[in-house]
Amino acid sequence: MIEQGLNTSILGKAQEKKLIGVKAINIRDYAYNKHKQVDDYPYGGGAGMVMQPEPIYEAYKGITEGLQKKPRVIYLTPQGKPFNQGMAKEFSKEEELIFLCGHYEGVDERVIDMIVTDEVSIGDYILTGGELAVMVMIDAISRLIPDVLSNETSAETETFDDNLLEYPQYTRPAVFMDHKVPEVLLSGHHKNIDTWRREQSLVRTYHKRPDLLETADLTEADRKFLDKYCKKT
Ligand code: ADE
Repeated sequence: MIEQGLNTSILGKAQEKKLIGVKAINIRDYAYNKHKQVDDYPYGGGAGMVMQPEPIYEAYKGITEGLQKKPRVIYLTPQGKPFNQGMAKEFSKEEELIFLCGHYEGVDERVIDMIVTDEVSIGDYILTGGELAVMVMIDAISRLIPDVLSNETSAETETFDDNLLEYPQYTRPAVFMDHKVPEVLLSGHHKNIDTWRREQSLVRTYHKRPDLLETADLTEADRKFLDKYCKKT
């Protein structure tokens, strides 16, 4: 599922160009018994199954054997730190990453304590397993790696830079069903365009995601603008 899901489009090309490499490891290949079972009933009782520590530890050993630097091991769990663009940026600087996808009811806590460096959640909802979550993370991280995106689709300025939402975008035609493109964008006046875009970012964030403003990277001019804007609305 993971390898196929990441094989197409931009990430498929990035893999062909060896800008990124993705390898899915089946924990079952490290099963201890002949039934290839990797989970068992929880000690203390209760519903569901728990993934056993040995196959996960063996898989980890298999991957990291001979590596000079032990990669960060990210465990995908709804109990983890909420994933965001800042984390994607941080992870994109790592040479190698290991993702551990939980399944069933959970993973034996001892192996989490032993190998996991980061616990990450992609949102406050429960998936059947970490596979979709890891694909979301790999997508968000990979597009920040140099040359993965072409110039046209670059991640140079976009939503969540400075913790602000991106300004609105327009393309031809200049008038669509009586709706005009904002005049300033047709003016060719770059300084005014930059100012307008910054203000639009602030206005959008204020209306759509006011929570982001608390940690946004705001200049003195941004604050002044927002103060004035808030008084008007
Ligand atoms: N596994 C199950 N649900 C998850 C979530 N919301 N984020 C990350 N991993 C998960």
